[in-house]
Amino acid sequence: MSGRASPQRTPIVAGNWKMFYAPTEAREFAESILGGLAAIQGVERVLCPPTISLTAVHGVTSGTGVQLGAQNMYFEEKGAYTGETSPTMLHGLCDYVILGHSERRAYFGETDALVNRKTHAAFAHGLRPIVCVGERLEDRDANQTERVITAQVRGSLADLPIERIGELVVAYEPVWAIGTGRAATAQDAADVAALIRALLGEMYGAATAQTVRVQYGGSVTVANVAEFAALPDIDGSLVGGASLKADFVEIVRKTAEAKGRA
Ligand code: PGA
Repeated sequence: MSGRASPQRTPIVAGNWKMFYAPTEAREFAESILGGLAAIQGVERVLCPPTISLTAVHGVTSGTGVQLGAQNMYFEEKGAYTGETSPTMLHGLCDYVILGHSERRAYFGETDALVNRKTHAAFAHGLRPIVCVGERLEDRDANQTERVITAQVRGSLADLPIERIGELVVAYEPVWAIGTGRAATAQDAADVAALIRALLGEMYGAATAQTVRVQYGGSVTVANVAEFAALPDIDGSLVGGASLKADFVEIVRKTAEAKGRA
């Protein structure tokens, strides 16, 4: 198996810090991994701290080549939406925004229709969306993975501006693999990544679909990341728990190696 990414797709590894690290500790942790991350070329490296810590982390990442992402946002530009963050507020601070993470879908009721509105808003405001899809364990056990992924891709990624599709990142994160220590097999990840790309091909044309980066996420570690990064259809990973430690640098380094970028 060739471990190389398609030449036009730059691998991307993003660290989803979830609800960890308030501003001071976020800045300190970012500083501790920054030198290691900045030294790795050929892979986009994205840190996604909690919204309140974005500014603090931006203060140390700016100019290093390490990029920033938010974990969520609302689609309106401003208004009476208590507790929400708008795309215009993130613009200039973030390069990326994670949308439709399974925790948002499960705990905060986010639907494909809402994720689709947010994805449109991200594009409209110069943010690159990392849109998450993934089946639950009961879906997989009932052989419904293909149906669930198809509905999520068609719903969350409908009618996007075709000239911007190359900025889209889709994260395949099986819900049962997130935070459980039980990662998907490389074969399962490869099969679903191929499905996602085929669906995007139906929606936007095969050539355009080839420009979209597809990440794997769910219990990615230093020990298993190379298996995923070696897959031609997987362009990197979305890392939760292991992104809160210095391990994240090693995960990016192993991705660069597996993609022949090191
Ligand atoms: P995990 O989380 O790496 O801790 O499984 C991944 C994610 O939720 O993005």
